[in-house]
Amino acid sequence: MSTVTLTINDTNEKFEFEVLEPTLGPKVIDIRKLYTQTKMFTYDPGFTSTASCSSNITFIDGEKGELRYRGYKIEDLAQKKSYLDTCYLLLNGSLPSEDELKSFDKEIRKRSFVHEGLKDMFKTFPDKAHPMAMMSSAVSALSTFYFEHLDVYDEAEYQVLARRIVAKVPTLAAFTYRRSLGIPFIYPDVNRSYTENFLYMMRAYPNENLKISPIEIKALDTIFTLHADHEQNASTTTVRAVASTGAHPYAAVSAGINALWGRAHGGANESVIAQLEMIGSVENVDKFIKKAKDPDDDFRLMGFGHRVYKNFDPRAKILGKLLEELKHDLGIDLELLKIAQKIEEVALSDEYFIKRKLYPNIDFYSGLILTALKIPRKMFTIIFVIGRTVGWITQWIELRNDKELKIARPRQKYTGPKDNKI
Ligand code: SDX
Repeated sequence: MSTVTLTINDTNEKFEFEVLEPTLGPKVIDIRKLYTQTKMFTYDPGFTSTASCSSNITFIDGEKGELRYRGYKIEDLAQKKSYLDTCYLLLNGSLPSEDELKSFDKEIRKRSFVHEGLKDMFKTFPDKAHPMAMMSSAVSALSTFYFEHLDVYDEAEYQVLARRIVAKVPTLAAFTYRRSLGIPFIYPDVNRSYTENFLYMMRAYPNENLKISPIEIKALDTIFTLHADHEQNASTTTVRAVASTGAHPYAAVSAGINALWGRAHGGANESVIAQLEMIGSVENVDKFIKKAKDPDDDFRLMGFGHRVYKNFDPRAKILGKLLEELKHDLGIDLELLKIAQKIEEVALSDEYFIKRKLYPNIDFYSGLILTALKIPRKMFTIIFVIGRTVGWITQWIELRNDKELKIARPRQKYTGPKDNKI
């Protein structure tokens, strides 16, 4: 057993802690007994050096810019497999055979319908409601229709509740879009694949047998795959914290949706396009790079930087390639693409970004493809929700099976008043 020793210099006391071995990535120091032994806490706002759990779902090598789901490289899954393959892989730990995929696909199609009462709930939202607010409310409301999921403790039940929400989220997402326009909702079409169905429910007129191009379906399917899971990011950490109290799984996912909404996290994709439009031309890029570097200016380059990646986000690389491949077929806004590529070129040769290892992340390019798919900007983070729901519910299941499960309850460094008298 390898250990580390902590010496308290004032008293020369020594405390030993075990070093735990991962299968990939940094070793971890087991400090679970730190407080009882030393009467001291660690201090780590934002958990920059803290492993909150053991997990065998996703692994990121931030230095190399590598991402793996259940050991498979994201590049291989994005190019050779469908998003539904990836959902099956995350939920079951192995890629599906042809027959397994067929029955999984059939089940997801059947479960894509939502209760009429849940559909009617959308009428109560005001016209200008943000899709993310509607989405987190709708997913939370899903728990009222499946309250029995509060008392599930076996794998078969976990798989049912997981397939249910993976299947219904695109339908609810399309409903948020249709509600924002005040137009009739389109029900899922069980004869269409997962990703095609979402575009159909977004775009079709009632009773229209809408044709959707395979190129658009493949582009969006790849985007879903790239967003499926990402270790213990802020929204997944939120899902786990809610799950650790024993709350309803769909309440935990709804909390994850709310965490994802912030522009430092999933909301960044919406801000990237707004930023590219604000920059307006390649000639203005230098001016905005200067603003991003100015410590007195809170302007940040949206879609740049990452807590874990200190190299290229592999997902951004895949999206950058996809953009180049499809820029004509998809009708990508070439002006905005040129500005994005200029930002990447200038930033990556600038000392400020190099020193801080700031590279484009997944949000930097995704918005350009979503715009070309005629998905409105307010729906960009909803697309992230569709992709990430399978990751959140997979992490929920893993936490429920975790023998080391404890309620999430960190401590603090107290800096308040010592003893006030009334
Ligand atoms: C996602 O965690 C995940 O895995 C998330 C995600 C997932 O799949 O779940 O990958 C999805 O959320 C991607 C990130 C999307 N957010 C953005 O693109 C927003 C812009 N990026 C930043 O706000 C920032 O980079 C974060 C929030 C992503 C990461 O912040 P950190 O790790 O807390 O880093 P930091 O804020 O401490 O920054 C370190 C330094 C600082 O400068 P100094 O104080 O050292 O001088 O880098 C600077 C920051 O000012 N910096 C930036 C910058 N990001 C960091 N400067 C300019 N532009 C930026 N974008």
